[in-house]
Amino acid sequence: MSPRKIIIDTDPGQDDAVAILLALASPEDVEVLGITAVAGNVPLALTQRNARIVCALAGRTGVPVFAGCDAPLERSLVTAEHVHGKTGLDGVPVDEPDMPLMERHGVDFIIETLRAEPEGSVTLCPIGPLTNIAAAFRRAPDIVERVGEIVLMGGAYFEVGNITPAAEFNIYVDPEAAAEVFGAGVPLTVMPLDVTHKALTSKEIVEGFAAMGTEVGRAVAAWTDFFERFDMAKYGSAGAPLHDPCTIAYLIEPGLFSGRHINVEIETGSELTRGMTVADWWGVTDRPKNATFMGSVDRDGYFRLIHERLARL
Ligand code: RIB
Ligand code: CA
Repeated sequence: MSPRKIIIDTDPGQDDAVAILLALASPEDVEVLGITAVAGNVPLALTQRNARIVCALAGRTGVPVFAGCDAPLERSLVTAEHVHGKTGLDGVPVDEPDMPLMERHGVDFIIETLRAEPEGSVTLCPIGPLTNIAAAFRRAPDIVERVGEIVLMGGAYFEVGNITPAAEFNIYVDPEAAAEVFGAGVPLTVMPLDVTHKALTSKEIVEGFAAMGTEVGRAVAAWTDFFERFDMAKYGSAGAPLHDPCTIAYLIEPGLFSGRHINVEIETGSELTRGMTVADWWGVTDRPKNATFMGSVDRDGYFRLIHERLARL
């Protein structure tokens, strides 16, 4: 089967970095048409730089990286330096990326790519706030039906929120964008905290990355170690949830994940529950089923896949 064509929309972020590396290490499964950066974990000037740093680290400086939106559609930006550090890739010193940022705006790249590629052949993989995706849909409604699938990291239901008691960060930052993406009618697969909080790293896993003896292994070990501190302090867990690579792992080995096809709506009206993903897990409404909402992952299989693929770089 030919590799799935994808666009990764991202706000690197250590876990975003691992997702990008996993995709670039898996050319038989995914063809990365381009990477669009969005403001999220850190401001856009850093997320676009970090995306290029990760491509250079993977030795894939030919992958086009674009800067997208620098703020949510209708709200001011909320960032997460407290989790990812000032640079967004704290954990290991990195050089300036030796690859250029593309001139075109990331939203234009998304629109033009979807118009140029055969209908249904492109999968969008947003792993940050959904601003770029919603902006593309607003500017070019004709592309919505051309999207094959959206596989995103975001939301939470039984696991509740990580930036407020009700909301997960990616959805919280731009709830209007999320509401428009979840309501667009595109086939949608969601990796919420309900599943990513089961994809916990461990000391052994981090040591396994370091033991690869490669620059990629050392960077991923340092990034996951840094990223872990926040979550271990917060959740008392023995490891950090490696959120974003769940999207790419799903494209490579969908059987690692399980969930339900249900209705998911986004709260945009209340400040108390802004960005909450209201998931009708028990089917108590007749609202349209618009998302496959994942709840479980084969953790060992997930980290086996990540380790096996990253060792290629
Ligand atoms: O809540 C987790 C999500 O927020 C991940 O995508 C992480 O990178 C941050 O963007
Ligand atoms: Ca992210």
